[in-house]
Amino acid sequence: MTGREFVQGLMEEMERLFARLGETDTLQSESDEQVDVVTVLKLALKSELEASELAGFWMPTTHEVDAKMALALQCGDEMKHYGLISQRLAELGEDLADFDPVADGHSPLYQYLRGLRTTVERIAGGPFASEAIAEIRNTQFVNFCRAVGDDGTAKLYSDIIQPEEVHHHHLGREILEKYATTPELQEAAAAAVRNTLAIADELRALATKTTGIHNIPVS
Ligand SMILES: [Fe+2]
Ligand SMILES: [Fe+2]
Repeated sequence: MTGREFVQGLMEEMERLFARLGETDTLQSESDEQVDVVTVLKLALKSELEASELAGFWMPTTHEVDAKMALALQCGDEMKHYGLISQRLAELGEDLADFDPVADGHSPLYQYLRGLRTTVERIAGGPFASEAIAEIRNTQFVNFCRAVGDDGTAKLYSDIIQPEEVHHHHLGREILEKYATTPELQEAAAAAVRNTLAIADELRALATKTTGIHNIPVS
């Protein structure tokens, strides 16, 4: 199987899983059923911080220069998103002076991804799969913001944040197509994608109901 065929198969697998999500499923599982704009934005701060930290952590020990560039770009973009979301929370009247997004520690997904050692696994779990999840979650969030009349937050996501998450996913896809070219590398990359989908908070409730995606123990 070529890298391209392999990645196409992974895309179809993810799309089948995402197609089973309801309108606000990713928001509800993320925020324990309490869906309101401020709660989701505060949770988003943690996701942005973790994505930036991971990309920065991986960058110096990822050998391939194009993968390094994608990680460096992502590291900067995710912290930029963090800043924009903080600004939006301030506009909504939230005081973030004492807010620590990782007060409860980093997420199980962060812990898992941080342990990945090879380029194909990192790109598969990070830019490719996690950013695909972000795209789905953001689409649901934009619709939710519009439904409750928060056009400012909807616009921030649809105009700035969402296009950049989509770009991260596309870069991940290209790099995976280029480097996941042997059965061994494809097996490792597919495992990283499946584990990421199984661990992600947004999809966890769904994963327990889905055959083919196996829950693994998380620390
Ligand atoms: Fe982001
Ligand atoms: Fe991103």
